[in-house]
Amino acid sequence: MGEVTTQVRLRRMTTEDVPAVMDLERALFPLDAWSEGMLRDELAETATRHYVVAEAGSPGSGDLETGSGAGLVGYAGLRFVPPEGDVQTMAVAETAWGRGIGRALLAELLALAEARGVTHMFLEVRSDNPRAQDLYTRFGFEAIGVRRGYYKGADAIVMRRVAEKAMGEENDE
Ligand SMILES: CC(C)(COP(=O)(O)OP(=O)(O)OC[C@H]1O[C@@H](n2cnc3c(N)ncnc32)[C@H](O)[C@@H]1OP(=O)(O)O)[C@@H](O)C(=O)NCCC(=O)NCCS
Repeated sequence: MGEVTTQVRLRRMTTEDVPAVMDLERALFPLDAWSEGMLRDELAETATRHYVVAEAGSPGSGDLETGSGAGLVGYAGLRFVPPEGDVQTMAVAETAWGRGIGRALLAELLALAEARGVTHMFLEVRSDNPRAQDLYTRFGFEAIGVRRGYYKGADAIVMRRVAEKAMGEENDE
């Protein structure tokens, strides 16, 4: 896999980020955007959720220091109930696609999940979204099922990633 070619900083999402995240959410998921209330409910569930944002900018620039949400180029959310976890959402501003930010966000979620004892990660992705499916496949996710009509105008592909340390137990089943 390539390097992250844009300078990004990942940090935990706060409620102050909600307006900027919702702008991206509506632009990137025009058919099935979350409502602001859904996002706020997720952020409130701190015992089982961890949301991160990616901010772009050069080190030491004003945007990064203020944490104002300016320069927010992506976000992702983890639900963790060990040994299982879910990628709740993931998105990168279209102007910043193809620079490794999606990869960085997913790697961060997987590291956060592993640190909490998650061995089995799940996600749902639109059947008409090969770009995201490709990203997940590269990280070891495998399609394990289909939920017909889960999204407006598309099925959901259910994908799962089993951590290497849990692979032996998986094979014993
Ligand atoms: C899916 C998404 C998060 C990827 O973000 P991104 O920052 O562009 O991802 P990356 O730059 O890290 O690239 C990830 C992979 O996408 C693929 N990719 C990158 N640029 C691409 C391009 N121009 N065309 C097609 N695929 C491309 C590559 O497989 C790449 O992996 P690699 O760099 O290891 O080869 C982003 O496209 C997005 O937000 N899409 C809309 C929302 C969405 O679909 N979210 C997922 C919901 S399940």
